[in-house]
Amino acid sequence: MELLVGTRAREKEWATRHLRKSKGDDWGNGSSDWIKGYWNSVNHPHRPFLIEAISKFDPSSILEIGCNCGPNLYLLAKKFPAADIRGIDINPEAIQKGNEWFAQESITNVKLLAGKADELGQLQDKSSDVVFTDAVLIYVGPDKIQKVVHEMLRVACRGLILVEWHCFEPYHNDPNGLGIYYEGYWKRDYVALLKNNWVREEQIHLTKITEDIWPDKNWKEVGGIIEVVM
Ligand SMILES: C[S@@+](CC[C@H](N)C(=O)[O-])C[C@H]1O[C@@H](n2cnc3c(N)ncnc32)[C@H](O)[C@@H]1O
Repeated sequence: MELLVGTRAREKEWATRHLRKSKGDDWGNGSSDWIKGYWNSVNHPHRPFLIEAISKFDPSSILEIGCNCGPNLYLLAKKFPAADIRGIDINPEAIQKGNEWFAQESITNVKLLAGKADELGQLQDKSSDVVFTDAVLIYVGPDKIQKVVHEMLRVACRGLILVEWHCFEPYHNDPNGLGIYYEGYWKRDYVALLKNNWVREEQIHLTKITEDIWPDKNWKEVGGIIEVVM
């Protein structure tokens, strides 16, 4: 469907997932509630890796795009209790439940908002020290990825970190980084994409995800952490 109508097919799927009869269990952690499954995935081995990359900036403000109910933001709030931490997600129920769980945990420096990755107009230029995504741009196709990256670069003040699927192989067919449809998701050459958005190659650092970080066939093959120092 998304190859026919573009990213809005995926947006609709995520935005209405809580209304579907069969909601699935993305993390296979036995949760009958898909959003609770995200909350329970807080100890997934890739998260400490991401938190470490963000921590290098010693941020006082952080924004996650596509945060679901906020498992990454929970870890960040524990590490940076004085930071202003925000998350945006397209699914309103994930946002609502996440805000409730943060309140129950007496965490007051995290605020989750419903919104779309390509519509960050409510956020000011350079308003977050670090902006990051974790398994979100794999759902954003060539029709929207330029706008999403442009918006994230506008809002980020010191760093942008992406945990996504990157074309590590030297010979691929993605010269502008718009994306290649692969196993039902989008992988792309993030270096090419960022260079098209005025980021210099020396500002970009790539790390390949290994099996111990994410024990999954696809993530260990094409998963990467793409770090941009502004
Ligand atoms: C695979 S989950 C990852 C959630 C979270 N980042 C994590 O690490 O657990 C993808 C999330 O991105 C959200 N999402 C997908 N497309 C989006 C879009 N265009 N704008 C905002 N959020 C989006 C979904 O609702 C979902 O919560």
